[in-house]
Amino acid sequence: MIDIIKNIAAAPRRTKASVIRELLKITNKPGVISFAGGLPDPQHFPYDFVAESVKKIMATKGRVALQYGPTDGLPEMKEEFVKFLKRHEGITARPENLIVTTASQQALDMVGRLFIDASDPVLVEKPSYMGGLQVFKSYGADFVGVKLEDDGISTEELEEKLVWLRSQDEHYKFVYLVPDFQNPSGVTLSAEKRKKVIELSEKYDVVVIEDSPYRQIRFEGKAPKMLYRLDQETHKTDNLISIFTFSKTFAPGLRLGLILAHPQIIRKMEILKQSLDLCTSSLNQLIAADFLRSGYFETHIEVVKKTYKLKKDTMVAALEKYMPEGVSWTKPEGGLFLWVRLPGEMSADEMFADALKENVAYVIGSAFHCDGSGKNTMRLNFSYPTPEDIDEGIKRLATAVKKRMVAAK
Ligand SMILES: Cc1ncc(COP(=O)(O)O)c(C=O)c1O
Repeated sequence: MIDIIKNIAAAPRRTKASVIRELLKITNKPGVISFAGGLPDPQHFPYDFVAESVKKIMATKGRVALQYGPTDGLPEMKEEFVKFLKRHEGITARPENLIVTTASQQALDMVGRLFIDASDPVLVEKPSYMGGLQVFKSYGADFVGVKLEDDGISTEELEEKLVWLRSQDEHYKFVYLVPDFQNPSGVTLSAEKRKKVIELSEKYDVVVIEDSPYRQIRFEGKAPKMLYRLDQETHKTDNLISIFTFSKTFAPGLRLGLILAHPQIIRKMEILKQSLDLCTSSLNQLIAADFLRSGYFETHIEVVKKTYKLKKDTMVAALEKYMPEGVSWTKPEGGLFLWVRLPGEMSADEMFADALKENVAYVIGSAFHCDGSGKNTMRLNFSYPTPEDIDEGIKRLATAVKKRMVAAK
């Protein structure tokens, strides 16, 4: 190890490499069918729209597009997003409720910076989004895991944990939720549980982070209201912080997202962002504003939903066809992932090497558990591989599972 490593500060010392990003280095091997990534299907990026939009922007607003912008985001972007929130979510917001971010990962970093002191309890779903765990850990969060059920976080256990933390005089900072087609499990928080979460947020005065990158990719069923809207309609706690991104509905390469919260929180975020990157790309904000204003968002999202539904159906059908008895999986109504549970003590961690020998890859479920549990689980991505590869990949995965079952007998 080089000498200066000993001088690095606490936050990067605490930051562990992302298991997924490390896995991707192995799984990108030729011949491997990978369900490990979380990438949108590049076939459907709106290439022509972006080309046209950039041309138009350069002709009319080039000076804004290529210049630094305000730290909290371009007014045009915020205005379009205010309209979007009204149109799609029934949420009333003002530009002061919004800050534009360099996608949602930066938003999570800002949440961590704003709220977490070392050893602060932070409540998370078990499993939860790995990139959230990674960033909150870097600020020293002490995770309190709450079981995730098929209809979202266990609100009973959440209340028990809040009561327990209060009794310990612990100053819990927030509950982090991915309520729609959760990454990694594909699970959605039910309407009843959403109401309960809002009640708990008021009763225990706890901030709720609603991180929802997949919400617009619903290809089946009816969407429950956003937590932010429920809070607006009923309790008005100001405890809700909602995070949006264009990564899954438009293109992750745009690196564009927004935070919706009380203006005082937004102002604090703005000050933080001044030191992070001054501002998010002006050009990309203008492209996204055009995407919303032109109505292309609505056209485009239908294509994305149709494609992902086909891929999800293909994956579920393949699981039903090839997997042996005892293996179960979620059937998400949207998003990019589904979640597989192996029977009993069988370890998806240990099986990973066997799966690679069969030329198929997944992400081990334990990597999404703040306490390292969930060894018998795995996350499968269905948005990126082709339907043909999904069928073949699940067949290979089932071979690995069956071989392990035989070996364990
Ligand atoms: C739940 C969740 N939050 C945040 C992110 C980060 O996405 P981005 O920074 O591209 O918006 C992801 C990415 O997969 C995610 O699944």
